Formats: sequence, C-alpha cells, structure tokens
Amino acid sequence: GKSNVVVVGGYNQDLTWYTSAFPRPGETVMGRFVTGPGGKGSNQAFAAARAGARTAFVGAVGDDHFGDPLPALYEKEGIDHHLVVKPNHPTGNAGIWVDENGRNDIIVDLGANNALLAEDVPEELVASARVVVCQHETNLAANQRAFEIAKRNGVKTVLNPAPTRDDFDESILSLVDIIMPNETEFASLVARMGFYDAGEFSEQMMVGLGDEDLHDLCRQFSVPVVIVTLGKHGCFVSTETEYRKLPTIDVEHVVDTCGAGDAFVGGFSAGLVRFGGDVFKSAVFGNITAGLSVTRPGTAPSMPQLAEIEPYLKSQGLD
Ligand code: RIB
Ligand code: NA
Repeated sequence: GKSNVVVVGGYNQDLTWYTSAFPRPGETVMGRFVTGPGGKGSNQAFAAARAGARTAFVGAVGDDHFGDPLPALYEKEGIDHHLVVKPNHPTGNAGIWVDENGRNDIIVDLGANNALLAEDVPEELVASARVVVCQHETNLAANQRAFEIAKRNGVKTVLNPAPTRDDFDESILSLVDIIMPNETEFASLVARMGFYDAGEFSEQMMVGLGDEDLHDLCRQFSVPVVIVTLGKHGCFVSTETEYRKLPTIDVEHVVDTCGAGDAFVGGFSAGLVRFGGDVFKSAVFGNITAGLSVTRPGTAPSMPQLAEIEPYLKSQGLD
C-alpha cells in the first residue's frame, strides 16, 4: 500500500558502549557493548511505523556487512524501503557512549548516507505521501529534492535539522512546513541566521528565555510551525497564531536518552497522519513516544509500539 509518512534520511549501525562515566582524554574505562540499527532518519521511520503510520524509508548503504541486514529489518517492521547501495562508501556508523545517567556522546561517520543524491529520491513515493521527513544525515541536496517534490504535491514537509551542519543552506526553509530542532540546534540556527539582535546567541541563553521570547525567536524563521524539543522538559510549539509548552510524560527510570529526539519526530509524524495535521495533538503524541523510548536501551529498538502509546493518549483525552 501507499506510505503516509516517508522519511528520507540516514541509517547508521550504532555501536554503543554503556559505562559508569565518560572517559576523560587519555583515560581508559570499562564498558558494556551493544550494537544495533540507528541513524536519525531510520530511527524516525521505526518510531513512526511502530506508532501506527504506514511508513517508508529512503536511504543509502555501503556495500558492506553493516548494510546487509537492512531490507529484512525494515520488512520485519512493516516499513517500505528504498535503499540505494553506494559501493565506495561505508554504511553509516555511530560510536555512542552512554553514562549511568543515560547521557550520551556520539561520533558519526555518515559514509554512504552523505552520498544519497537528489536523483536517488523516488518521486512517486514522496509525491503520494502525507508527510515527508528529513534530517541532516544525508547529502543535503537529497533533502532539497524531497521537499521540492513534496511541495509540488501538497505533501507536508518536516525538517529535523539534526545534527547541526556547517553546509546548511537556509534557502531550504522556504520549503519547510514544520521545523523541529532541539535546543542546541535551535540556538545554533538562531545564531547563524542572526535572529537575535542583542549580540551573540548561545545555547546557555536558552535557559533564561521566557516562552514569549522563545516564540518571538521561532517566528523569525518564517516557517509556519517551529517545535523546539526540550529533552526532559518536553517541547515548545510555536505556530503563526499561538505557542504552547507541552510537558513530557513521567517515567520511572531513564536508561538511555539516545534516539529520544528521533522518537519525538517519528511519533509526531505519525500523529500528523492520525490527527489530520493538528500540530499540538501530534506534539503530545511525540512527547509520549519519546518518553517511552528513554526507558529502554538502544535507539531504533527502543521505539514504543502503538499499544504502549495509546493508554497515555487516552489519559490526555486524545483517542
Ligand atoms: O539520534 C540518534 C542517532 O544519532 C543514533 O542512532 C546515531 O546513529 C546518530 O546518528
Ligand atoms: Na532509548
């Protein structure tokens, strides 16, 4: 069948070490090792599919063993896939350290992801979607093409500008319906685009910002909807007419926050389909999806199923 959510993005093999504390420069510490599927785009596709949306993933892999299990992996999740093989590049990979507080540090080699070209984006798949979602782990020209196709066909465009890239071309924003940075990415975009008129803008300054000031900064993007994810504080939703801060759900024990942003974006996108484009309801859906994902290790494997999400939706009056 046709996919409602199409994610054009990156896949990384995640290589994760759980340790009590991060090593300092020159230090060796012991850790417990786990490997599994990751990459922001792929994680978001997992989250959206498990949250009940018919989902497709468009990406690139190398001609190596990290890429081999992917078709079967997506089939098992019910995710339609369009994978382009890039023989001269390694499959994307990420070295992740998680400390006992669930915090993480990541080094990524985008490899094949960054070789996903504009012409690799399948026009019909994108044109027939309801929502197309991109991040910053592919060649940015592929994002541009995906959004151009989407706009011509009335498909909603969602940009998760993660991670921050120096080669970001802000002209893409004219094609974006909803932009979803985290605080770090938001601060660096605000600084880069010169939206803060009282001098330099830094991530530290996010802490002291009132909701109204945050909304004013969001409005300067000239993107209809700006959603800033705030980690354990949930998210801030700014539209042309209003703003709201939406808290996350209470969870017992945070195990691994890696991939929580992806859980939010994927859950939100599934929410857009379910709630007919209502960004506030979708953001609640994203908060629930992210809140459940941090209680489990790993990134893609930690994404919750719809059956786990639904009781929380009900308790917030959103069936
Ligand atoms: O957002 C989490 C993801 O970032 C990880 O899965 C890792 O692959 C990196 O891309
Ligand atoms: Na997790």
